[in-house]
This record gives sequence, C-alpha cells and structure tokens, in this order.
Amino acid sequence: MSHVTVPAHGVMEGKGAYNKHATIPASGAVLALPFLERASQEVTLGNEPDPIVIADYGSSQGKNSLRPMRVAIRNLRPRVSPNRPVFVFHIDQPTNDFNCLFEVLSSDPDRYALDEAHVFPCAIGRSFYEQVLPPHSVHLGWCSYAAVWLRQIPSLIPGHFFPGHSTGAAREHFERQAAEDWETFLSLRATEMRTGARFIVVLPALAEGAPGFGRVMDHANAVLAEMVNERAITADERAHMVLGSYPRRKDELLAPFTRDGTFRDLSVEQLDISPLPDAVWAEYRRTGDKQVLAMRHALLFRAIFMPSLARALAGVRAGDETALQTFADRLQNGLIKRLTIDPSPVDMCVQTLVLAKSGA
Ligand SMILES: C[S@@+](CC[C@H](N)C(=O)[O-])C[C@H]1O[C@@H](n2cnc3c(N)ncnc32)[C@H](O)[C@@H]1O
Repeated sequence: MSHVTVPAHGVMEGKGAYNKHATIPASGAVLALPFLERASQEVTLGNEPDPIVIADYGSSQGKNSLRPMRVAIRNLRPRVSPNRPVFVFHIDQPTNDFNCLFEVLSSDPDRYALDEAHVFPCAIGRSFYEQVLPPHSVHLGWCSYAAVWLRQIPSLIPGHFFPGHSTGAAREHFERQAAEDWETFLSLRATEMRTGARFIVVLPALAEGAPGFGRVMDHANAVLAEMVNERAITADERAHMVLGSYPRRKDELLAPFTRDGTFRDLSVEQLDISPLPDAVWAEYRRTGDKQVLAMRHALLFRAIFMPSLARALAGVRAGDETALQTFADRLQNGLIKRLTIDPSPVDMCVQTLVLAKSGA
C-alpha cells in the first residue's frame, strides 16, 4: 500500500452545480444558525467606526452562505451604528468557481447585502491552510462543511476512495493527517481572530449505526470498479482516486483542547451534535419515486465528490473538459442505476463547534 502525500482537491463541481444540489450541507447549516445568532449577539465588536469583519471559510459558490451571513448581520447591526461598515470575506481555493460566487452575491434574490448599504462582500482565493486575513482582524468566523477537507491526501486506500472506509495503515495515515490539519486550521484562525471573537465550525459526522453517506460511497466504489472493467478508466487512475474528505469524531475535534482546556487562546464554548435526517428520503416516503430519490443522491455526490475523483484522470489533469464530462456522466448514471435498485436514506449528523478567542 502506497504512502502518498498529494494536495487534497476538494473543489466542488462548477457552473452552479454545487449551489443547485448541495441540499444536505444547506440543511446542516440551518441547525447551526441558533449558535451563529447567539455568537453574533455576544461577540466583542471593538470601537466605532472600525469595520466589522466576518470571514466565511470554504464558501464554495456562495448560495449556502447567504442565509448564515444574513443571520449574522441581522444580529450584529442593532449593536452598532447603522452605517458602520461590515466586510464579509468569502474564502475558498483558487480553483473554486468564483464567477458563480460573485453572481450569487450580486444577483441572488436572497443576497444578504440587498438592503444593507454598508455591507461589503469580498472574496479571497487562497487555501484556508494558509493565513488568509491579517492577524487580529476577524470578529466573526463561519466555516460550514469545509474543514472536513484535509490539506493533503496522506495515503492511497486499497479497494476504496473514501477515508471513512479505510482500515489498517491507510486509516492511521488519515487519522494523523486529520489531527495535524485540524491543529493547523485552528492555529491560523486563532491568529486571524480578534480578542473576544467567535468562530462557528459546522461539520458533517457519520451517524452512529446508520450507513449515512457510506452506502452511496460504496455504490460509487462499485461503479468505479465497473468503469475499470469497461476500460473507461485505468486501474492506476482508479487506485489514485482518494477523497481528502475526513469526517472527524467528537474526540478528534476536541483533542487540541484536552491538554489545558484551550488551544492558541481558543476555547470551546459549545459542541453540539444533532441528527440530520435525509429530507430527500422523507420526500421519497411520500411519493415512492425511486428514480427521483436516486437522481438527487447521485447529483449531490457528483457536485461534492466527483471533481476530486476526476483529478486522478490523466485527461482531466491535462485540461480535457470532455474527459471530465464523460467520467462524471458515467459515474452519475451508474450510481443512479444502483441507488434505484437499493434505495436507502442518507442520515447524517451535524457537529457545530463554537470557539471563542481570549487573550491579549
Ligand atoms: C462542501 S463545500 C461547503 C460550501 C459551503 N460552505 C456550504 O456549507 O455549503 C466545501 C468547500 O470547502 C472548500 N475547501 C476545501 N478545502 C479548502 C481549503 N484548503 N481552503 C479553502 N477552501 C477549501 C471547497 O473548495 C468547497 O468549496
């Protein structure tokens, strides 16, 4: 088994596909809104007329950020003068579809700056495993369904592509990488946050005793094996398909804080774990339409994970757009076929951490 370290990809499918199909992250973030609301009411805001800085780490194409940013601004505004400037920085990787993000920020009917003359949306194309904002500049941080993506892939996974289904040495490599990346991520955010700032991190978690997304991952794995047999992809390309998405357990999230209760002046104010039932499954129970259920789950998988898997294809790395589409369509169709025969709910959990920064 190879021990590799390649950068994780983790960029979502472009041209608005993620915005359209990312229903599970959208519902997960809704469960975290009460925590964001409270943090916005409690965060230290410093002196007028200094701008208030909100950072949205891993915004993707922006649609799922609109509601949380609106909640934050709605709760901050009454605490400051009506014309105090608010900067909202949306941070994502340079290859994110920023065109789509800007379109959403300027034209979506639900855009948070619509009735707010003194709110200024901005975007930063840089990995959140680097410092993305100046030290002591951020009042309020938000990061939803993004910190689950590692900085790099530490290992191939024999027979699979999902770290959650790795075992043995591969599993150990992922656990170590996830621990290291979590500390790096927290240290960088601690540097960027002001004293009294709050940071809300929303993360997917595997639900105890429920297959969750694991079942969809296994079906996708089977489709990839079919594609090797059909020679649609090579065995070597398949072997190098590994996701950098690692859902951490509660003890892994809390590990940096166990030594002395704080980590780089950050402390955990709250850690909430809530079940997130599959809304698509609930709709299927009403309609009985297996095709629609399978299609929705397949499109969700495609929008989130397909681009990372496709990076292993020589054609895609060379910039061949047709190779990308062919791969994505074949994977999607195979997945729909399997999910129609074997329908199951994608029940997950949502972990919300509220971090507060103390110190000088
Ligand atoms: C599943 S999407 C979440 C988008 C949105 N926050 C939501 O809740 O729907 C994950 C996002 O994290 C971004 N991401 C992953 N690794 C990143 C990194 N190292 N730096 C910045 N963004 C990253 C991806 O590019 C992607 O846009």
